[in-house]
Amino acid sequence: YDYDLLVVGSANADLVIRVERRPAAGETVLGSDLVVHPGGKGANQAVAAARLGARTALLARVGDDGHGRLLLQSQRAAGVDPAGVLVGGAPTGVALITVDPSGDNSIVVSPGANARLAPEDVRAASGLLQASRVVSAQLEIPLETVVEVVRSLPSGTRFVLNPSPPRPLPAEVLAACDPLIVNEHEARVIAGGELDGSPEDWAAALLALGPRSVVVTLGAEGALVATGEAMTRIKSVKVDAVDTTGAGDAFTAALAWRLGAGSSLPDAAAYAARVGAAAVTRPGAQESFPTAEEVESL
Ligand code: RIB
Ligand code: NA
Repeated sequence: YDYDLLVVGSANADLVIRVERRPAAGETVLGSDLVVHPGGKGANQAVAAARLGARTALLARVGDDGHGRLLLQSQRAAGVDPAGVLVGGAPTGVALITVDPSGDNSIVVSPGANARLAPEDVRAASGLLQASRVVSAQLEIPLETVVEVVRSLPSGTRFVLNPSPPRPLPAEVLAACDPLIVNEHEARVIAGGELDGSPEDWAAALLALGPRSVVVTLGAEGALVATGEAMTRIKSVKVDAVDTTGAGDAFTAALAWRLGAGSSLPDAAAYAARVGAAAVTRPGAQESFPTAEEVESL
Protein backbone atom coordinates (compact mmCIF):
# COMPACT_ATOMS: atom_id res chain seq x y z
CA TYR A 1 0.00 0.00 0.00
CA ASP A 2 1.18 3.55 -0.78
CA TYR A 3 -1.07 5.04 1.92
CA ASP A 4 -1.79 3.96 5.48
CA LEU A 5 -4.97 6.06 5.40
CA LEU A 6 -7.16 7.67 2.75
CA VAL A 7 -9.64 10.15 4.20
CA VAL A 8 -12.74 10.91 2.12
CA GLY A 9 -14.53 13.94 3.48
CA SER A 10 -14.99 17.63 4.05
CA ALA A 11 -12.64 20.58 4.17
CA ASN A 12 -13.87 23.81 5.78
CA ALA A 13 -12.54 27.20 6.73
CA ASP A 14 -13.33 27.45 10.46
CA LEU A 15 -14.35 31.01 11.43
CA VAL A 16 -13.91 30.97 15.20
CA ILE A 17 -15.06 33.48 17.83
CA ARG A 18 -14.56 32.88 21.55
CA VAL A 19 -17.59 33.91 23.63
CA GLU A 20 -18.36 34.18 27.36
CA ARG A 21 -21.69 32.52 26.59
CA ARG A 22 -23.75 31.72 23.49
CA PRO A 23 -26.52 34.13 22.48
CA ALA A 24 -30.15 33.06 22.95
CA ALA A 25 -32.58 33.46 20.01
CA GLY A 26 -32.90 37.14 19.13
CA GLU A 27 -29.93 38.12 21.31
CA THR A 28 -26.55 39.63 20.34
CA VAL A 29 -23.35 39.05 22.30
CA LEU A 30 -19.86 40.44 21.72
CA GLY A 31 -17.02 37.94 21.33
CA SER A 32 -13.27 37.85 20.67
CA ASP A 33 -11.46 38.78 17.48
CA LEU A 34 -12.22 36.40 14.60
CA VAL A 35 -9.65 33.69 13.89
CA VAL A 36 -9.73 31.63 10.67
CA HIS A 37 -8.40 28.08 11.04
CA PRO A 38 -8.20 25.26 8.47
CA GLY A 39 -10.84 22.67 9.47
CA GLY A 40 -13.55 20.32 8.27
CA LYS A 41 -13.88 16.80 9.59
CA GLY A 42 -12.18 15.18 6.59
CA ALA A 43 -9.28 17.61 6.33
CA ASN A 44 -8.85 17.40 10.12
CA GLN A 45 -8.63 13.61 10.05
CA ALA A 46 -6.03 13.70 7.28
CA VAL A 47 -3.82 16.23 9.11
CA ALA A 48 -4.16 14.32 12.40
CA ALA A 49 -3.01 11.05 10.83
CA ALA A 50 -0.14 12.64 8.92
CA ARG A 51 1.11 14.45 12.07
CA LEU A 52 1.32 11.07 13.79
CA GLY A 53 3.42 9.72 10.94
CA ALA A 54 0.82 7.96 8.78
CA ARG A 55 1.23 8.10 5.00
CA THR A 56 -2.03 9.89 4.29
CA ALA A 57 -4.10 11.08 1.33
CA LEU A 58 -7.27 13.21 1.25
CA LEU A 59 -10.16 13.02 -1.23
CA ALA A 60 -12.13 16.24 -0.83
CA ARG A 61 -13.39 19.30 -2.71
CA VAL A 62 -12.58 22.96 -2.00
CA GLY A 63 -13.44 26.16 -3.84
CA ASP A 64 -11.08 28.12 -6.09
CA ASP A 65 -10.66 30.77 -3.38
CA GLY A 66 -8.52 31.89 -0.46
CA HIS A 67 -10.11 29.43 1.97
CA GLY A 68 -9.38 26.59 -0.44
CA ARG A 69 -5.74 27.67 -0.67
CA LEU A 70 -5.52 27.83 3.16
CA LEU A 71 -6.76 24.23 3.33
CA LEU A 72 -4.41 22.94 0.64
CA GLN A 73 -1.51 24.70 2.36
CA SER A 74 -2.28 23.08 5.72
CA GLN A 75 -2.59 19.61 4.14
CA ARG A 76 0.79 20.04 2.45
CA ALA A 77 2.42 21.40 5.62
CA ALA A 78 1.28 18.31 7.53
CA GLY A 79 2.62 16.00 4.84
CA VAL A 80 -0.74 14.85 3.45
CA ASP A 81 -0.75 13.94 -0.26
CA PRO A 82 -3.27 16.49 -1.63
CA ALA A 83 -3.51 14.93 -5.12
CA GLY A 84 -7.13 13.93 -4.35
CA VAL A 85 -8.20 17.45 -3.32
CA LEU A 86 -10.42 18.72 -6.15
CA VAL A 87 -10.79 22.45 -6.69
CA GLY A 88 -13.85 24.35 -7.92
CA GLY A 89 -17.59 23.99 -8.38
CA ALA A 90 -18.61 26.09 -5.37
CA PRO A 91 -16.99 28.19 -2.65
CA THR A 92 -14.99 26.34 0.03
CA GLY A 93 -17.11 25.07 2.91
CA VAL A 94 -17.29 27.31 5.97
CA ALA A 95 -17.86 26.43 9.63
CA LEU A 96 -19.09 29.20 11.95
CA ILE A 97 -17.78 28.21 15.37
CA THR A 98 -18.22 29.69 18.83
CA VAL A 99 -16.00 28.40 21.66
CA ASP A 100 -16.99 29.02 25.28
CA PRO A 101 -14.72 29.35 28.35
CA SER A 102 -14.97 25.60 29.07
CA GLY A 103 -13.57 24.84 25.60
CA ASP A 104 -16.88 23.50 24.26
CA ASN A 105 -17.98 24.58 20.80
CA SER A 106 -21.13 25.10 18.73
CA ILE A 107 -20.76 24.75 14.96
CA VAL A 108 -22.87 25.64 11.93
CA VAL A 109 -21.47 24.33 8.63
CA SER A 110 -22.20 25.72 5.17
CA PRO A 111 -21.08 22.78 3.00
CA GLY A 112 -20.20 24.75 -0.15
CA ALA A 113 -17.84 22.66 -2.30
CA ASN A 114 -18.17 19.69 0.09
CA ALA A 115 -21.72 19.18 -1.24
CA ARG A 116 -20.23 18.83 -4.74
CA LEU A 117 -17.92 15.94 -3.83
CA ALA A 118 -19.82 13.44 -6.00
CA PRO A 119 -19.90 9.65 -6.46
CA GLU A 120 -18.17 10.16 -9.80
CA ASP A 121 -15.26 11.83 -7.97
CA VAL A 122 -14.90 8.63 -5.94
CA ARG A 123 -14.96 6.52 -9.11
CA ALA A 124 -12.30 8.77 -10.67
CA ALA A 125 -10.14 8.27 -7.55
CA SER A 126 -10.19 4.47 -7.69
CA GLY A 127 -6.36 4.47 -7.86
CA LEU A 128 -6.22 6.21 -4.47
CA LEU A 129 -8.66 3.69 -2.98
CA GLN A 130 -6.66 0.75 -4.35
CA ALA A 131 -3.48 2.20 -2.84
CA SER A 132 -4.88 2.63 0.69
CA ARG A 133 -4.84 0.22 3.62
CA VAL A 134 -7.64 2.00 5.50
CA VAL A 135 -10.32 4.43 4.26
CA SER A 136 -12.18 6.74 6.64
CA ALA A 137 -15.19 9.00 6.09
CA GLN A 138 -17.61 11.33 7.91
CA LEU A 139 -20.96 12.84 6.85
CA GLU A 140 -20.22 16.44 5.84
CA ILE A 141 -20.27 15.22 2.22
CA PRO A 142 -23.28 13.75 0.35
CA LEU A 143 -24.41 10.36 1.64
CA GLU A 144 -24.42 8.95 -1.92
CA THR A 145 -20.69 9.74 -2.07
CA VAL A 146 -20.10 7.70 1.09
CA VAL A 147 -22.22 4.89 -0.43
CA GLU A 148 -19.96 4.98 -3.51
CA VAL A 149 -16.87 4.75 -1.28
CA VAL A 150 -18.28 1.61 0.34
CA ARG A 151 -19.12 0.09 -3.05
CA SER A 152 -15.64 0.92 -4.38
CA LEU A 153 -13.68 -0.46 -1.40
CA PRO A 154 -11.01 -2.93 -2.53
CA SER A 155 -11.22 -6.27 -0.72
CA GLY A 156 -8.80 -6.10 2.19
CA THR A 157 -9.16 -2.34 2.69
CA ARG A 158 -10.67 -1.48 6.05
CA PHE A 159 -13.45 1.15 6.34
CA VAL A 160 -13.92 3.43 9.35
CA LEU A 161 -16.89 5.81 9.62
CA ASN A 162 -17.64 8.64 12.02
CA PRO A 163 -21.23 9.52 11.03
CA SER A 164 -21.02 13.21 11.94
CA PRO A 165 -23.27 15.11 11.59
CA PRO A 166 -25.47 12.04 12.03
CA ARG A 167 -28.32 10.80 9.92
CA PRO A 168 -29.85 7.33 9.45
CA LEU A 169 -27.56 5.11 7.36
CA PRO A 170 -28.33 2.51 4.68
CA ALA A 171 -27.59 -1.10 5.63
CA GLU A 172 -24.80 -1.40 3.05
CA VAL A 173 -22.86 1.47 4.67
CA LEU A 174 -23.38 0.12 8.20
CA ALA A 175 -22.24 -3.37 7.13
CA ALA A 176 -18.93 -1.95 5.85
CA CYS A 177 -17.98 -0.13 9.08
CA ASP A 178 -15.12 -1.64 11.09
CA PRO A 179 -15.59 0.28 13.31
CA LEU A 180 -18.54 2.68 13.34
CA ILE A 181 -17.41 5.49 15.70
CA VAL A 182 -20.17 7.45 17.45
CA ASN A 183 -20.83 9.67 20.43
CA GLU A 184 -24.11 9.35 22.35
CA HIS A 185 -26.00 11.80 20.12
CA GLU A 186 -24.80 10.11 16.92
CA ALA A 187 -25.61 6.68 18.35
CA ARG A 188 -29.18 7.82 19.05
CA VAL A 189 -29.73 9.10 15.52
CA ILE A 190 -28.18 6.01 13.89
CA ALA A 191 -30.28 3.74 16.12
CA GLY A 192 -33.44 5.58 15.01
CA GLY A 193 -34.04 7.54 18.20
CA GLU A 194 -34.26 4.55 20.59
CA LEU A 195 -31.36 4.19 23.01
CA ASP A 196 -31.97 2.87 26.52
CA GLY A 197 -29.73 1.56 29.27
CA SER A 198 -25.95 1.67 29.44
CA PRO A 199 -23.36 2.37 26.72
CA GLU A 200 -22.97 -1.43 26.51
CA ASP A 201 -26.68 -1.64 25.62
CA TRP A 202 -26.27 1.11 23.00
CA ALA A 203 -23.30 -0.70 21.47
CA ALA A 204 -25.28 -3.94 21.32
CA ALA A 205 -28.16 -2.13 19.60
CA LEU A 206 -25.75 -0.60 17.06
CA LEU A 207 -23.97 -3.91 16.41
CA ALA A 208 -27.37 -5.42 15.60
CA LEU A 209 -27.59 -2.96 12.68
CA GLY A 210 -24.65 -4.66 10.98
CA PRO A 211 -21.28 -2.94 11.59
CA ARG A 212 -18.40 -5.32 12.31
CA SER A 213 -17.39 -3.24 15.32
CA VAL A 214 -18.54 -0.14 17.20
CA VAL A 215 -16.72 2.50 19.23
CA VAL A 216 -18.88 4.71 21.48
CA THR A 217 -17.02 7.81 22.67
CA LEU A 218 -18.13 8.91 26.14
CA GLY A 219 -16.34 12.25 26.67
CA ALA A 220 -14.78 12.40 30.14
CA GLU A 221 -15.85 8.77 30.67
CA GLY A 222 -13.55 7.58 27.88
CA ALA A 223 -14.90 5.16 25.28
CA LEU A 224 -16.41 1.73 24.81
CA VAL A 225 -15.20 -0.59 22.05
CA ALA A 226 -17.48 -3.42 21.00
CA THR A 227 -17.21 -6.36 18.63
CA GLY A 228 -19.39 -9.45 18.40
CA GLU A 229 -16.98 -11.13 20.85
CA ALA A 230 -16.18 -8.55 23.51
CA MET A 231 -16.88 -5.11 24.97
CA THR A 232 -14.01 -3.14 26.49
CA ARG A 233 -14.04 0.19 28.34
CA ILE A 234 -11.23 2.62 27.48
CA LYS A 235 -10.27 5.24 30.09
CA SER A 236 -10.08 8.91 29.17
CA VAL A 237 -6.93 10.97 29.69
CA LYS A 238 -7.58 13.94 32.01
CA VAL A 239 -6.44 17.29 30.58
CA ASP A 240 -7.50 20.95 30.86
CA ALA A 241 -9.72 21.67 27.85
CA VAL A 242 -8.95 24.84 25.88
CA ASP A 243 -10.79 24.02 22.63
CA THR A 244 -12.37 20.65 21.85
CA THR A 245 -12.82 21.47 18.13
CA GLY A 246 -11.52 18.62 15.99
CA ALA A 247 -10.61 16.34 18.92
CA GLY A 248 -13.10 13.73 17.69
CA ASP A 249 -11.55 13.89 14.21
CA ALA A 250 -8.08 13.34 15.69
CA PHE A 251 -9.44 10.38 17.70
CA THR A 252 -10.95 8.77 14.58
CA ALA A 253 -7.84 9.30 12.46
CA ALA A 254 -5.49 7.93 15.11
CA LEU A 255 -7.69 4.90 15.66
CA ALA A 256 -7.97 4.19 11.91
CA TRP A 257 -4.21 4.47 11.49
CA ARG A 258 -3.35 2.20 14.45
CA LEU A 259 -5.85 -0.44 13.25
CA GLY A 260 -4.20 -0.44 9.83
CA ALA A 261 -0.82 -0.89 11.55
CA GLY A 262 -2.14 -4.07 13.19
CA SER A 263 -3.22 -2.85 16.65
CA SER A 264 -6.22 -4.46 18.33
CA LEU A 265 -9.34 -2.30 18.55
CA PRO A 266 -8.92 -1.65 22.33
CA ASP A 267 -5.23 -0.74 21.88
CA ALA A 268 -6.01 1.53 18.91
CA ALA A 269 -8.79 3.26 20.89
CA ALA A 270 -6.54 3.77 23.93
CA TYR A 271 -3.92 5.42 21.72
CA ALA A 272 -6.59 7.50 19.98
CA ALA A 273 -7.90 8.71 23.36
CA ARG A 274 -4.45 10.15 24.11
CA VAL A 275 -4.32 11.85 20.71
CA GLY A 276 -7.77 13.37 21.27
CA ALA A 277 -6.77 14.53 24.76
CA ALA A 278 -3.68 16.28 23.44
CA ALA A 279 -5.81 18.03 20.80
CA VAL A 280 -8.17 19.65 23.33
CA THR A 281 -5.30 21.33 25.18
CA ARG A 282 -4.65 23.75 22.30
CA PRO A 283 -6.84 26.13 20.28
CA GLY A 284 -8.16 25.31 16.82
CA ALA A 285 -8.48 21.94 15.15
CA GLN A 286 -5.58 21.04 12.85
CA GLU A 287 -3.00 23.27 14.58
CA SER A 288 -3.79 21.49 17.86
CA PHE A 289 -3.06 17.94 16.72
CA PRO A 290 -0.05 16.21 18.29
CA THR A 291 2.94 14.45 16.78
CA ALA A 292 3.68 10.87 17.86
CA GLU A 293 6.42 12.20 20.18
CA GLU A 294 3.94 14.53 21.90
CA VAL A 295 1.53 11.62 22.41
CA GLU A 296 4.31 9.58 24.04
CA SER A 297 5.11 12.39 26.49
CA LEU A 298 1.47 12.83 27.54
O1 RIB B 1 -15.08 18.29 13.87
C1 RIB B 1 -14.67 19.64 13.85
C2 RIB B 1 -14.96 20.26 12.53
O2 RIB B 1 -16.36 20.28 12.35
C3 RIB B 1 -14.51 21.69 12.39
O3 RIB B 1 -13.18 21.81 11.94
C4 RIB B 1 -15.54 22.27 11.44
O4 RIB B 1 -15.03 22.58 10.18
C5 RIB B 1 -16.64 21.22 11.35
O5 RIB B 1 -16.56 20.53 10.18
NA1 NA C 1 -8.18 21.84 19.76
